[in-house]
Amino acid sequence: MLRKSVLVVLFGLCGNLAAVAAETARDASRGELLYSTHCIACHTAQVHWRDKKIATNWTKLQAQVRRWQGNSSLGWGDADIAEVARYLNTLYYHYPEPD
Ligand code: HEC
Repeated sequence: MLRKSVLVVLFGLCGNLAAVAAETARDASRGELLYSTHCIACHTAQVHWRDKKIATNWTKLQAQVRRWQGNSSLGWGDADIAEVARYLNTLYYHYPEPD
């Protein structure tokens, strides 16, 4: 009886973790898709780890993404900007993100 409920709890936890992982993967792939479609042509990864990088924290990273999508007249909303910034942050910058 006890064992059964432990199993049920474990199973529930795994389900939640899988959902969180799926959510993260979805966010990353949308940002990745947008970035590789619209942005990657001019920069190599080097742009994001050079010494004099402009994006020195999460807010500035988002500002750069906003600036660049504006340069290309893409008209991205806040959600798309955040997704691409999150993608770049996961890949290169690793700044702490506010919720
Ligand atoms: C016309 C070429 C070009 C395009 C298109 C372009 N970039 Fe850039 N990007 C650059 C260059 C050159 C730099 C480095 C110099 C600078 O920031 O002015 C840069 C720098 C950046 C930086 C700051 C890097 C750092 O840490 O200093 C970010 C973030 C960035 N780009 C994001 C984007 C995103 C997102 C897009 C697509 C919406 C994009 N860029 C499209 C040429 C481009």
